[in-house]
Amino acid sequence: MTTSHELNARFSCDGLRFEDAPNGLVRALIETPQAQGEVYLHGAHITRFQPAGHAPVLFLSEKSQFAPDKPIRGGVPLCFPWFGPRADDQSAPMHGLARLVEWEVESVNCDETATQIVLRYAPTTKPYPAWPTCQLRYAISFGAALQMRFEVKNVGEKAFAFEEALHTYFQVGDVRQIEIEGLGETRFLDKTRNLQEDTQFHRAFGISGETDRIYLDTQAACTIHDAVYNRKILVSKENSATTVVWNPWSAKAAAMPDFGDDEWQKMVCIETCNVNKCEVELQPGDKHVMTAKIDSERL
Ligand code: BG6
Repeated sequence: MTTSHELNARFSCDGLRFEDAPNGLVRALIETPQAQGEVYLHGAHITRFQPAGHAPVLFLSEKSQFAPDKPIRGGVPLCFPWFGPRADDQSAPMHGLARLVEWEVESVNCDETATQIVLRYAPTTKPYPAWPTCQLRYAISFGAALQMRFEVKNVGEKAFAFEEALHTYFQVGDVRQIEIEGLGETRFLDKTRNLQEDTQFHRAFGISGETDRIYLDTQAACTIHDAVYNRKILVSKENSATTVVWNPWSAKAAAMPDFGDDEWQKMVCIETCNVNKCEVELQPGDKHVMTAKIDSERL
């Protein structure tokens, strides 16, 4: 594994430096006039985004483990090549392997408006038997907005299908007092009711219990209206046909070892993804790029 010292020598940029984190992990710290941010090479996991003059935009659990064999709880877990449990192997890790493996730094670029880090994962030995023959590139840009661009390239001889998610945890003042707008008139699968299909008719909705929904066939941007923090968070996206909305509520939260019992009140996930019926099929030589952009606006 490359050390933070080697990475600092190779990639020099005013607004970004690498440092050692607990348990042998390495992270990039971004500190510029526009924003502060943090990315772990473990799982290519973004754990912080805070535009100048704003409260932190991403939620990170105080109980999160930071260990090579565990996903980080909060921030933006990157889910690939499957989402949720793997259908044909219940013992496979939830949400795929991308959030559990060590990523390499491809490049770092800083200019007056943003600092970008590009990570890649192209293993010579597969981390899981059914891992597709692919190259992954993930460009993360910290400026006034957070921009994520996840690219999957098929470098094998066979087509493959995959699911992907930028499983973004947002920090909110009180989840019971937010409204989510952008998913009106949209069908969804309700994971709390055995994937039963339903339709969200209202333009905006609140969260009043455990929520775990896959909104289908939607490329729409979503807005979180946060009356307690007095701010709006806008999540816009490209090439993503599904949006997952998740809050575990109290009972599930209490059962999660890496999540505080009361932390469900302070977060909501709005996930930019292609999952379930909207998985992506990729032909040899082709590539698929999904992007998400997060803006925060004070009211
Ligand atoms: C959400 C899923 O995206 O992630 C939920 O829809 C799941 O069903 C949640 O519980 C958290 O998953 P994990 O593996 O990070 O605990």
